[in-house]
Amino acid sequence: MVTYIDAASAPLKNTGAIRLYGAEDFEGMRRACQLTARCLDALVEIVQPGVTTAAIDRFVFEYGMDHGALPATLNYRGYKYSVCTSINHVVCHGMPEDKPLREGDIVNIDVTFLLDGWHGDSSRMYPVGQIKRAAERLMEVTHECLMRGIAAVRPGARTGAIGEAIQTFAEAERCSVVRDFCGHGVGRLFHDSPNILHYGKATEGPEIREGMIFTIEPMINLGKPHVKVLSDGWTAVTRDRSLTAQYEHTVGVTATGCEIFTLSPAGLDAPGLTR
Ligand code: MF3
Ligand code: CO
Ligand code: CO
Repeated sequence: MVTYIDAASAPLKNTGAIRLYGAEDFEGMRRACQLTARCLDALVEIVQPGVTTAAIDRFVFEYGMDHGALPATLNYRGYKYSVCTSINHVVCHGMPEDKPLREGDIVNIDVTFLLDGWHGDSSRMYPVGQIKRAAERLMEVTHECLMRGIAAVRPGARTGAIGEAIQTFAEAERCSVVRDFCGHGVGRLFHDSPNILHYGKATEGPEIREGMIFTIEPMINLGKPHVKVLSDGWTAVTRDRSLTAQYEHTVGVTATGCEIFTLSPAGLDAPGLTR
């Protein structure tokens, strides 16, 4: 049984109930999410062959500090960085390191800023110099998966409609959907109910209601869907070492659909524009 609670009167822990937020809360989320989007915009110029992911981590930390925001991943469950940087066959939770990016790499940069108590969570793919057509196509398919998932969001539908839209498109494009990680409720908490699966059926999952806020963040592989987590406890990679991509937006459910809080003010959301 799912329960829905007024976010204003709910305890600040994940009890499994789904929080419904009001107009002022949406305004707080808009601000946090737009800061995240502007940071992701600024990274377009920074991601170049020779730049280390450690330098990207420092940039994101400074960007947060300069704008009164804390990177929510810093010391989150023992994670030590301000950002996740996931390169090529790394599915998610790649840790910044002192190794330079190389021409032809594709890297997902996932930023979550905590601003005035609100979490803005978004990620995009960045090509490093010239990339192969297969990599570009995977990024295009993955972004389209995200946008089709978002298009399925409306009050009365179930969260499974999001997963069905994503899985149907990904598999028609001969790609696979990672099952081990999902989108999530977000707002006052970084990771909250409900889980948003990127596969499944439209008849599954809780009903979507106005006032819900969650992420959609499909991870799509060129090969098989299976992943493994490396011995560092964080880095998730494709088992077959196939190329993988991810895009993430934070959305708020409105009366007729949803608002994408993390949309790029510069229009740099989609692949091909991110360069
Ligand atoms: N930002 C990621 C997400 O989309 C979570 C990263 S948690 C970390 O949910 F600890 F790995 F940083
Ligand atoms: Co997320
Ligand atoms: Co994220």
